[in-house]
Amino acid sequence: MPILNRAEELQPEVAAWRRHLHERPELLFDVHETADFVAQKLREFGCDVVTTGIGRTGVVGLIRGAKGAGPVLGMRADMDALPIAEISGLPWASKVAGKMHACGHDGHTAMLLGAAKYLCETRNFAGSVAVIFQPAEEGGGGGLAMVEDGMMETFGIGEVYGMHNAPGVPLGNFAIRKGSLMAASDTFEIVVSGKGSHAAQPHLSVDPVLAAAHVVIALQSIVSREIDPLKSLVISVTTAHGGDAYNVIPMDVKLTGTVRTLLPEIRDFAERRLGEVARATAMAHGAVAEVSYHRGYPVTFNHADETDFAASIAAGVSGQGRVETDMAPKMGAEDFSYMLEARPGAFIFLGVGDTANLHHPAYDFNDEAIPYGISYWISLAESRLAA
Ligand code: NI
Repeated sequence: MPILNRAEELQPEVAAWRRHLHERPELLFDVHETADFVAQKLREFGCDVVTTGIGRTGVVGLIRGAKGAGPVLGMRADMDALPIAEISGLPWASKVAGKMHACGHDGHTAMLLGAAKYLCETRNFAGSVAVIFQPAEEGGGGGLAMVEDGMMETFGIGEVYGMHNAPGVPLGNFAIRKGSLMAASDTFEIVVSGKGSHAAQPHLSVDPVLAAAHVVIALQSIVSREIDPLKSLVISVTTAHGGDAYNVIPMDVKLTGTVRTLLPEIRDFAERRLGEVARATAMAHGAVAEVSYHRGYPVTFNHADETDFAASIAAGVSGQGRVETDMAPKMGAEDFSYMLEARPGAFIFLGVGDTANLHHPAYDFNDEAIPYGISYWISLAESRLAA
């Protein structure tokens, strides 16, 4: 099934929805206007059930097929934007200062709405499609909130699929892989405490700046010397704060950062060694390190059979040669991971061509990708739920 004629026809309308959403970015769980827009559209299309307020501000629409009973297929988009000031200069640029759709979630939401419109019109399947619109992908754990709210059980969802746009991948191409697709994302805070003094009398101090500097360097030895080079680990120290004056050795320095991993055992190892190395390195300098480690999104893990199925659907839309089935994993994180922990499924990337990168202030979702995305969702539903 190549790009569907109806998906092409829907493109201008879906692009208009996308630009409407782009002008009105909302953050995290605070996506009230976006959720209202989605729910209103789903009701207009004639969704059998439209439920709002799942996972605080998530929306689920249930579309029953006309060919009898069958399983419930979950298809998910994310709705939230980012705290970035847009510089695209486009007519539909963000009208909200300091916020923009820099990750293309406006495109994801609009494409899934387009597929929902088609599926409500045709209902050419057995069972049901649950279209899932989640808040707070960008750090709030909205996917987890929806799962914890009982979404899978409430709607009887048996499998879940997700999609993200990919700048740099040719327009309309797809990329996917089985197993670990995106990283687990954890954060840490290390407070290195010493003893302050006049900066001209360092021997009277325990210098936390020097100790913290050694901690930053020592943490990189975990990555470079303790992990199999063919297994992935990122430890990035991203902030260092301490001191207020050029002539005072401060009492303490705070470091924060992130840890990214693709395997549970590497994640456990990194958590343990980060604490040990930070504490022991600080101690070697007479200081004390207090370490707190917070686990964030888990690994986004694509299930084998569902990945094969998703890849075959993508190949049907764009052609076999335009689907990369063994893409390299990404060290970014994605909270669709929680839905994939709850149910089997697969997450796929859709190429949008040479646009600005995700999370860049000049990024704008490429509306030419819309027919590919809609066709993927429609084909997925009609194939998986064939009578
Ligand atoms: Ni995103």
